[in-house]
Amino acid sequence: MPTLLHIDSSAVADGSVSREVTAAFRAAWLAEHPDGTVIHRDLAAAPIPHLELHGITAGFAPAEAHSAEQAAAFALREELMAELEGADAVVIGTPMYNFTIPSTLKAWLDQVILVGRTAGEEPSAKGTPVTVVAARGGSYAPGAPREPFEFVTTYLEKVLTGMLGLEVDFIVPEFTLAANVPAMADFVPQAAESKAQALEQAARRGKELAARVAV
Ligand SMILES: Cc1cc2nc3c(=O)[nH]c(=O)nc-3n(C[C@H](O)[C@H](O)[C@H](O)COP(=O)(O)O)c2cc1C
Repeated sequence: MPTLLHIDSSAVADGSVSREVTAAFRAAWLAEHPDGTVIHRDLAAAPIPHLELHGITAGFAPAEAHSAEQAAAFALREELMAELEGADAVVIGTPMYNFTIPSTLKAWLDQVILVGRTAGEEPSAKGTPVTVVAARGGSYAPGAPREPFEFVTTYLEKVLTGMLGLEVDFIVPEFTLAANVPAMADFVPQAAESKAQALEQAARRGKELAARVAV
């Protein structure tokens, strides 16, 4: 059964640009696989606990040696890693919060990244395509004054590729705050264009990746 892992992390439920664009990706993917499975992790509605000591130590001990606390902590890691490993495609929506990803998404990454399994020499989900929708209020495009402050795509590219071995693609709607911040009024047309482009890219990418799944 073709499976899509859909992750959202915007704290905003209605009016979130990243959520709108991940939904467009999902709709395009599902149009090709109407009977496909979508696992939706809404990290704002149902946050994942931070990785803590028992979850860390459990990752380096055999299951039969786990204490009750380690077993409980590792059960969540196991569930999240299995969701990643079982996915034919992944779509992740992330806002930029204070130049980087929301802590809810970082918590998911910390639980999922386990060297020797999902990360390391032979990552277990190696090659799985992941589309990241990274929405931001301003612009951090090459040449923009704020370019050096961009720690969303620069960070995710390193961690998703370099650690998890995934095939990463970014869709970046910019200037999303233009309509609400008077000082950004001049950027309203760019915001609309950037969002329209993002929706179009998401629909195309969703369809493209759905076609890669052998059924
Ligand atoms: C707590 C918080 C911090 C933010 N920090 C930044 C920032 O550093 N740079 C930026 O361009 N926009 C920033 N924004 C604006 C969001 O990136 C923007 O609203 C984006 O569209 C959020 O994604 P969403 O529409 O999916 O919720 C911030 C918004 C919030 C709520």
